[in-house]
Amino acid sequence: MDVKIFEYDVVIVGAGLAGLAAARETTVAGKKTAVITKLHPLRSHSGAAQGGINAALGAEDSTDLHAFDTIKGSDYLADQDCVQLMCEKAPETIRWAEHMGAVFSRDDNGDIAIRPFGGQSKPRACYAKDRTGLTLLQTMYEQAFRSGIEVFDEWYCSDLIYKDGKVSGVVAFNIRDGKMAIFNSKATMFATGGYGRAYKINSNAHANTGDALSIVARHGLPLEDMEFVQFHPSGIGGSGILISEAARGEGGRLLNSKGERFMEKYAPNALELASRDVVSRAIQQEIREGRGVGPNKDSVYIDLTHLDPQIILTKLPELRELAITFLGQDMLKEPIYIAATAHYSMGGIPVDINCHVKKNPNELIEGFYAAGECSCVSVHGANRLGANSVLEALLFGRHAGESIVKDIDNLTFRPADVKDAQNAINELTWVKTNNGNERVPVLRAELQESMTDNAGVFRTAESLKKQVKKIKELLKRYKNIRIDDKTSTFNTELQEAIELGHMLEYSLFIVEGALARKESRGAHFREDFPKRDDKKFLKHTYAYMDKEYNITQEYADVVLGKFEVKERSY
Ligand code: FUM
Repeated sequence: MDVKIFEYDVVIVGAGLAGLAAARETTVAGKKTAVITKLHPLRSHSGAAQGGINAALGAEDSTDLHAFDTIKGSDYLADQDCVQLMCEKAPETIRWAEHMGAVFSRDDNGDIAIRPFGGQSKPRACYAKDRTGLTLLQTMYEQAFRSGIEVFDEWYCSDLIYKDGKVSGVVAFNIRDGKMAIFNSKATMFATGGYGRAYKINSNAHANTGDALSIVARHGLPLEDMEFVQFHPSGIGGSGILISEAARGEGGRLLNSKGERFMEKYAPNALELASRDVVSRAIQQEIREGRGVGPNKDSVYIDLTHLDPQIILTKLPELRELAITFLGQDMLKEPIYIAATAHYSMGGIPVDINCHVKKNPNELIEGFYAAGECSCVSVHGANRLGANSVLEALLFGRHAGESIVKDIDNLTFRPADVKDAQNAINELTWVKTNNGNERVPVLRAELQESMTDNAGVFRTAESLKKQVKKIKELLKRYKNIRIDDKTSTFNTELQEAIELGHMLEYSLFIVEGALARKESRGAHFREDFPKRDDKKFLKHTYAYMDKEYNITQEYADVVLGKFEVKERSY
């Protein structure tokens, strides 16, 4: 196969908030930057973020309080130095975004409006109606483009060029014609977003298949804290499409089939605004105990009918439309069905505070950076607070760009060779020519259903062992797939097959991590180990995969700080 080699100072994979913010920094600094993305940038999942972006802007708020809420929400697994950095830089980040053109909603005084979100002691989610992510994404896209980034959209990244402790770019193919190319660079960054598509009920875009994670893992590099998958309390019943936490922030109440406001039982102080892990478990518990609603009794109600209709019409218009479209329910007139949905991945590619990717807990890789949901920095620990993800993506994306600019003169440019594309070519050829009898959509559905059943809100050793077995069976069957489309133009069947390979591999990290962590912390709830165990597990998981899909794990210290580790209650 003919392989073209492009040369850049910086190659960034992913064009959501983190990727674009980094790319803007590097191009403004005069570094030739390519952004590779399997979607058009404006289709990135950052655009689906609805409710807000946190910053301590309120008169009674402080960056310390923001940091405390984040660390408590993380069930003390977040690294406190990284959290401090994020919370201190948050107000300036909002102003930076605003000065670049992001139009935030305003309060009656003309200040940027802030709304309450779960687990936060003060209102601090700045928002643009219920389209905050889209507003920021459009702003970053305009600004990154203006600064001169070169976008390779509808290009699929297949492999990382990693040799002798240094990353020198990526291998990607053009989805339009199937042609393979090498993007050779001094600095390479992954900003590819999350991987919630491993679950049947999820709030994620179809593109969120975690490709970058298993690409990294295939090189023997670690993934961190993969067992911590966030289940957002309010996905549309049956499908999981997001109904923003803003609905609860603006006053929405959760009710079971008996009309009881059940959060009074589970979080008597914070009620619906407890942290997401607490609210999701409460919802699932009500459903398990037979107090669910909806055709399959697998949802509860969120009721907003007591609110002034103007709140819904002006602050939550998109949520109302989503519920009308996907449920036929108008939240102005009746409560709507919601249930927990796989939403966010706290774990990912381990990075230090300046977004350098780690080879192990103590060593960095030259020329390799990551930021946003695909990375684990770790500011969310075992459970992320709502509206901290958009903040993390924008702030650490920009921070990664700044790190690259600082480092780049000391990074070596190692010329790539067409042989560096060989693994990617082999994978493409194998998927096209393999002549088995298994079908990709069938295997994917089995993975997603079994992940929701066995590695969801509630987990046990039994359910997790069953899931390890299931994934290993699916990995074997994957070797026996066949696709019908052998062409090279927009071959989505081929792309979905490659994505499934990634989904199977990183799902194994989620489940093996959950099996080994014999405690409950944040979003990871083991029914057989319902208590948090700080003695053994106040630790980050670093997991590695070998060629036979065996996972080995080690633990690394959490960076503690001025916030004392305590029991959480809401
Ligand atoms: O509920 C939401 O609007 C989601 C926000 C987030 O995940 O940060």
